[in-house]
Amino acid sequence: MTAQLIDGNALAKSIRAEVAERAAALGARGHRPGLAVILVGDDPASQVYVKHKVNDCAVAGIRSVLETYPAAFSEAALLARIAALNTDPTIHGILVQMPLPGHINPHRVIEAISVAKDVDGFSTLSAGELMSGLPGFRPCTPYGCMKLIATTGVALRGKHAVVIGRSNTVGKPMALLLLQAHATVSICHSATPDIGALTRQADVVVAAVGKRDVLTADMVKPGAVVIDVGMNRQADGKLCGDVDFAGVSQVAGWITPVPGGVGPMTRAMLLVNTLESAERVAKA
Ligand code: GUN
Repeated sequence: MTAQLIDGNALAKSIRAEVAERAAALGARGHRPGLAVILVGDDPASQVYVKHKVNDCAVAGIRSVLETYPAAFSEAALLARIAALNTDPTIHGILVQMPLPGHINPHRVIEAISVAKDVDGFSTLSAGELMSGLPGFRPCTPYGCMKLIATTGVALRGKHAVVIGRSNTVGKPMALLLLQAHATVSICHSATPDIGALTRQADVVVAAVGKRDVLTADMVKPGAVVIDVGMNRQADGKLCGDVDFAGVSQVAGWITPVPGGVGPMTRAMLLVNTLESAERVAKA
């Protein structure tokens, strides 16, 4: 391997420590940060994610309130819970775990969360703030990717960054964050005829498709920064990313592993967003 590993676990740990310090300072002034996490249904993966989020909060000194509801919970009841949490002064962030059961419209739910507490950054108002370069909550995964890129010391201004994937939660906000950092940005997706033709020009590649081997060694410029957002379960149960790690790490300058790259940073940035929400309230 020639690429340097970007250690998401180590960076997330240092961010959690900083959040803990700032949360304690806020708590001492009577503004202990609080996050409400809502889980509807019994999706096993969601149960694990939610447990991690609650544990992360405890470690960082953020109060978390976990509300779990059965799969049959109605959309109206969920919207009523969100309305109550929107006006609860002890709650600074509201996260409704996705996916929701089929009878609940996720867009209606996301839009019901007050923009001041939208620590996932998924609402159209938060997306609009990012689009317009206004302060607001950035979606945790792309926000974490920006922090990972920053650790390489590679300045993004004037560089070509290629994002593979165009989801509302990762690909699109990722492209906007890179643009805000003055990169020249290309977005590739399933209808792009030759993704390699673009990634071979890229100084930074972010792969966020959810399919293994989307990026292989022949598609990477020597020395490039490669960020792998993918989390794919292999037949043997092992986790792998979207990037052919064995091949690409021979060509890239920096690369994130899976696991231990983007995943821990997504969780860390949720803490940062919740803390910053509480800091805004304390300042107001
Ligand atoms: N489901 C999987 N990832 C996420 C996330 O980041 N936020 C929410 N709300 N649901 C998810």
